[in-house]
Amino acid sequence: MASGFRLIFATSLLLALLDLCRGSTIGICYGRNADDLPTPDKAAQLVQLHNIKYVRIYDSNIQVLKAFGNTGVELMIGVPNSDLLAFSQYQSNADTWLKNSILPYYPATKITHITVGAEVTESPSNFSAQVVPAMRNVLTALKKVGLSKKIKVSTTHSLGVLSRSFPPSAGAFNSSHASFLKPLLEFLAENQSPFMVDIYPYYAYRDSPSNVTLDYALFESSSDVIDPNTGLLYTNMLDAQIDAIYYALMALNFKTIKIMVTETGWPSKGSPKETAATPDNAQTYNTNLIRHVINDTGTPAKPGERLDIYIFSLFNENRKPGLDSERNWGLFYPDQTSVYNLDFTGKGSADVITQANVTSSNVTTWCIASSKASELDLQNALDWACGPGNVDCTAIQPSQPCFEPDNTVAHASFAFNNYYQQNGATDVACSFGGTGIKVDKNPSYDNCIYMTAGSNKTVASNTTAISSTSSFATMNRVPTWVFSCLLGTFMLVLSKS
Ligand SMILES: *[C@@H]1O[C@H](CO)[C@@H](O)[C@H](O)[C@H]1NC(C)=O
Ligand SMILES: *[C@@H]1O[C@H](CO)[C@@H](O)[C@H](O)[C@H]1NC(C)=O
Ligand SMILES: *[C@@H]1O[C@H](CO)[C@@H](O)[C@H](O)[C@H]1NC(C)=O
Ligand SMILES: *[C@@H]1O[C@H](CO)[C@@H](O)[C@H](O)[C@H]1NC(C)=O
Ligand SMILES: *[C@@H]1O[C@H](CO)[C@@H](O)[C@H](O)[C@H]1NC(C)=O
Ligand SMILES: *[C@@H]1O[C@H](CO)[C@@H](O)[C@H](O)[C@H]1NC(C)=O
Ligand SMILES: *[C@@H]1O[C@H](CO)[C@@H](O)[C@H](O)[C@H]1NC(C)=O
Ligand SMILES: *[C@@H]1O[C@H](CO)[C@@H](O)[C@H](O)[C@H]1NC(C)=O
Repeated sequence: MASGFRLIFATSLLLALLDLCRGSTIGICYGRNADDLPTPDKAAQLVQLHNIKYVRIYDSNIQVLKAFGNTGVELMIGVPNSDLLAFSQYQSNADTWLKNSILPYYPATKITHITVGAEVTESPSNFSAQVVPAMRNVLTALKKVGLSKKIKVSTTHSLGVLSRSFPPSAGAFNSSHASFLKPLLEFLAENQSPFMVDIYPYYAYRDSPSNVTLDYALFESSSDVIDPNTGLLYTNMLDAQIDAIYYALMALNFKTIKIMVTETGWPSKGSPKETAATPDNAQTYNTNLIRHVINDTGTPAKPGERLDIYIFSLFNENRKPGLDSERNWGLFYPDQTSVYNLDFTGKGSADVITQANVTSSNVTTWCIASSKASELDLQNALDWACGPGNVDCTAIQPSQPCFEPDNTVAHASFAFNNYYQQNGATDVACSFGGTGIKVDKNPSYDNCIYMTAGSNKTVASNTTAISSTSSFATMNRVPTWVFSCLLGTFMLVLSKS
């Protein structure tokens, strides 16, 4: 048993770490309802340039699938509503689609989710009866090729599936959709697929400015909204709306279904009446959203629960119908310049990412620990860097050149910089949950030499898979997902041995 068990343990642990043991994630929606967008290759480069690891698309366009091949970016793809009828009627339609449109690009293109239909309850045509049968056929097609565990099947909803969202504890699904939702929720529970919902505090504010404060919608509120039934305090509307879905699921006794926010965002421009659609508000919303998510705070009803959220959208889309705001949700203009500055790492200053054309500058930078960070955060970050982060921390051990000054800031600085230089000196590699800062002055002193990019590439190659997929931004707290991840690892080992 021993060696077999160890091997299984090692591979299970690795898989489990990669699969389960990641914190909250921030992705982006790549809508293409426009006639002036850059090619998918360019869009994929833009996404990588900004260290975005999760992308949602709305179809299975071959050029897009190819563009994200071998990028490491995880893709959520979609079956459009117009295909639901065909997919629901014949298994062979789902089989053929999978075989011709997906499998040729998989796994070079990392596809993790398939959304079968989108916000069908908002559609003027009533597609709802086709959704679950189409989902079943897609799942069956995946099962036939052994991918049903790797690719999750779900569908997206608007918040309009709720008849009530306030207070969150009274969240309830609209009973008009019961015949659609019941088999759907059973499918999700049975297949451990997430409940996907598009949540827009922007609309809640726009449509009801007298009942909702802008600050509350923008995560800037200084006062809390109290749920009178639970006593829970809500500081922002997104949390309240996510929790309304949790409670609606609980009310129907679906306690195991996770929630994924497949769209949220804020428009930077709108019609004259849409006064809140400004670049400043959009920047504030998305900046605060990213910080909130990567902080792994969870929501009041589910503290520490991992949040998976996709920002809408990558580009402004000039062919979207409706009010002006509809065409101005993008973080980037079609020429790939930023609509406003946004730091995707959530680490602090919003001026890190300004232009899409970041030419690889040859100005040397180093990454050190912020002296303002708490001792505990720094120690956690230091432990992470010297452990899962694969940094050689010999130099900060007693009697080694960087041991003095013997304090956490100094030791963390040395470790952060090593990690940063070994991982491409990108902004995200100096994130460390907001405790790392980039400097352009060499921090070396006496015999303690701080590495610069390229000065030492001898990183143990065996373990780089972990360090490159688990950026520190997602590894810094010990919320509930860590426990579920440890438990998951343990169960995996038990089930495989
Ligand atoms: C949609 O169609 C289904 C059956 O085809 C029906 O049960 C449901 O009430 C309809 N929903 C709406 C909103 O019309
Ligand atoms: C529930 O859905 C029906 C059908 O879409 C709609 O007419 C009704 O207004 C909704 N009820 C609530 C309370 O939102
Ligand atoms: C605002 O809240 C009041 C009282 O809760 C409610 O009656 C009213 O319908 C709300 N207005 C809007 C536009 O939602
Ligand atoms: C980050 O988490 C800490 C502790 O869990 C919490 O006090 C703080 O408000 C959170 N910050 C954000 C931006 O969510
Ligand atoms: C971005 O780079 C392209 C070609 O490399 C150039 O034509 C364009 O002007 C640049 N844009 C900005 C904003 O620097
Ligand atoms: C960057 O490198 C190029 C060639 O390697 C050099 O000509 C240029 O002066 C450098 N720029 C800076 C800012 O160091
Ligand atoms: C590179 O790292 C190895 C061990 O990790 C060390 O022995 C060597 O001195 C380092 N080289 C430089 C140039 O820092
Ligand atoms: C990787 O692991 C193997 C087996 O454990 C070991 O022989 C090798 O030295 C390790 N390091 C590298 C860099 O491959």
